[in-house]
Amino acid sequence: MQVVLIGCGNMGGALLRGWVAAGVAPIAVVDPKLDRVEGAAVLAGLEALGGLSGPLCVVLAVKPAMIAPTLTQVATYLDDRALVISVAAGVSLATLRRCAGSGPAVVRTMPNTPAAIGRGAIAAVPDAPLTEAQHEFAQGLLQAAGQVFWLGDEGLIDAVTAVSGSGPAYFYRFTELLAQTGRDLGLSPQMAESLATLTFTGAAALLDATGKPAAQLRVEVTSPNGVTAAALAQFDQDNRLGDLINAAGRAAVKRNREMGGS
Ligand SMILES: NC(=O)c1ccc[n+]([C@@H]2O[C@H](COP(=O)([O-])OP(=O)(O)OC[C@H]3O[C@@H](n4cnc5c(N)ncnc54)[C@H](OP(=O)(O)O)[C@@H]3O)[C@@H](O)[C@H]2O)c1
Repeated sequence: MQVVLIGCGNMGGALLRGWVAAGVAPIAVVDPKLDRVEGAAVLAGLEALGGLSGPLCVVLAVKPAMIAPTLTQVATYLDDRALVISVAAGVSLATLRRCAGSGPAVVRTMPNTPAAIGRGAIAAVPDAPLTEAQHEFAQGLLQAAGQVFWLGDEGLIDAVTAVSGSGPAYFYRFTELLAQTGRDLGLSPQMAESLATLTFTGAAALLDATGKPAAQLRVEVTSPNGVTAAALAQFDQDNRLGDLINAAGRAAVKRNREMGGS
């Protein structure tokens, strides 16, 4: 299948980098901002899809509000062999199906930006059972960018978005704020940023390398009545941090639903 990536910004660009590194080919890209990109052909516009031969796998990575008009236009170039994969937050399978018409297979996904280094967490849900060949192709393509979780219920994608779709931003925000605290405590800006970044990337790598649960690694850093315990008590007093993260997740779900529903 010829893969056509439509929209090559933050998320589309991350997927493309993951695919190119994994050797996925052939890939064509449509994005008005680009005239060349490594590892893929750049098409002049959506009309150029008419000139492609063979079955198409169209990956939609434009902003959610642009999905319906873009897919409606793209659908004129798709036949029954086509596969449409959307990565858009909040755009339902019903909307995708309405715009794609009855022919192509349609899959809604929620990836995240670590896809750029093949470390994405990617949930996927089709609107109807895929053929074995379609499933195998979609699995292979998504897997080249990370670990794939097939959902049996589209309703769960709001929760996935709140946890892994938006999650990288929570981690970066936490890193920024720990660096800010380091500065407030007297470290130079550069050292505060380096210490915060190294600590979180190192801790994440340790979590990955040991396979131990996060809770166990946390206990290993936390002597009873020690320094870390004093710091964590601030998080956990009246479940402050737990409540805050829960509220963040709920706000993400609410916003995802407002953006188009699932
Ligand atoms: N960012 C994330 O972490 C993340 C995570 C999961 C899912 N998503 C989903 O990924 C999608 C893209 O988000 P993003 O953050 O990557 O946005 P983005 O950086 O703005 O990327 C969208 C790209 O699509 C281009 N574009 C606009 N209209 C187009 C058209 N008709 N044909 C081809 N390309 C077009 C845009 O160009 P212009 O800027 O010139 O308009 C831009 O380069 C969204 O639906 C979002 O919900 C994002």
